[in-house]
Amino acid sequence: MLTKDTFNILCLGDIVGAPGRDILQHELEGIRNEFHIDFVIANIENSASGFGFSNKLYHEFIHMKMDAFTSGNHVYAKREVMDKFDIYDRLVRPVNFPDSHPGKGVRYFEKDGKRIALINLIGRVFMTQMPYCPFETMDKLLGEIEADIIIVDFHAETTSEKQALGWYLKDRVSLIFGTHTHVQTNDYRRLSNKTAYISDIGMCGAFDSVIGMDATISIDKFIHQLPARHQPVRHPEQSVIGAVMIGVDPKTNHIKTIETIHRVYNNERN
Ligand SMILES: [Fe+2]
Ligand SMILES: [Fe+2]
Repeated sequence: MLTKDTFNILCLGDIVGAPGRDILQHELEGIRNEFHIDFVIANIENSASGFGFSNKLYHEFIHMKMDAFTSGNHVYAKREVMDKFDIYDRLVRPVNFPDSHPGKGVRYFEKDGKRIALINLIGRVFMTQMPYCPFETMDKLLGEIEADIIIVDFHAETTSEKQALGWYLKDRVSLIFGTHTHVQTNDYRRLSNKTAYISDIGMCGAFDSVIGMDATISIDKFIHQLPARHQPVRHPEQSVIGAVMIGVDPKTNHIKTIETIHRVYNNERN
């Protein structure tokens, strides 16, 4: 169980459009207090109308007391942020993208005397990008990283690639959490006393949806296979918050516990 005595990190699944932002605006403070959260990480790759993030939203999320941000395949969807990646020092993009891509894949944070390294990594199976091998990338990277706590957001499609990376990084990082599918898996566990793992933490967005998007458009696309742009659900009756939390022993930096959040809220205002 997460207690006041552990260093507690909350990782929020992909924030999908306005429904994801709205539900966190209402509920994040309560979750932070309930679980004694010390550090908040959020995946913001779908926060702006489902694709990418904007300048306004980056600042809005900081205002909501989120400490660090991860991303994924949609990180460059909005042109307006392309020249901001050096300034936005709370954000990581997939580290195994080409070096010429804007942004950094690893960033360091200090909180309560803890040095946290946050890494964003993208998978290769069924992904349209052609990133460097995530396994070899981590081997190279981990030789250079010095931190008390190392967190990896592995943005990938298949549970097998994610679980394989989890075992590959056992005892070398503190937490590997998956994102990208927007559907939470039930395989959270400690792989050892040093490493926690979950294949996917889910999303923050419309619960009445296909991975946060309007189901009608999605169904249509599958049947007719014609181009149509996905859109987040405008006014969902229910929204979901998907997340994972770890409690770290402040003395040893070992993982005391890993817990998930999958909460569905009725949007009474609709
Ligand atoms: Fe996503
Ligand atoms: Fe994604």
